[in-house]
Amino acid sequence: MKPIIELIKELADKHGRNRHSLLPILQGVVEQERYLSEYSMIEIARELDIPATEVYGTATFYTFLDYKKMGRNIIRVCKTITCSMKGEKQIMLAIEDMLKIKIGETTQDGLFSLLQTNCLGLCHKAPAMLINNEVYTDLTPEKIREILTMYMNRKDEGENNVN
Ligand code: FES
Repeated sequence: MKPIIELIKELADKHGRNRHSLLPILQGVVEQERYLSEYSMIEIARELDIPATEVYGTATFYTFLDYKKMGRNIIRVCKTITCSMKGEKQIMLAIEDMLKIKIGETTQDGLFSLLQTNCLGLCHKAPAMLINNEVYTDLTPEKIREILTMYMNRKDEGENNVN
């Protein structure tokens, strides 16, 4: 695992040092660290030369602001209006039922954490969710079971080593 400052510099080199790079940089940090500490946010703000409040605001909006360590795979289900009208509740129930966790919780094996997020900009394919950086759209409870099974099988194949 890279030191956080080095990681942020690398991500900024890759994505650029402007406001549009903020989201991919936040995602990159969460991918390695599994959460976003206050220290990381301050360092990101310094690297991009933007106010720390802006980093905080974006992180909060997209619910990347996790103060505790999260599971290996972070599921973020969109809770905004279009997704909510197109079956977000059923999606959430299917996930909760399969993983035996509620929103904000992590499975005992540390493989999944379940969160909600605001609109992902994929309303035309609602309901939508992210698992880490992967986007999943047009979700149904059946599709959820297939997707989660795929992630569980990856673990069995050793691709998803739990920390
Ligand atoms: S409302 Fe869910 S992606 Fe826009």
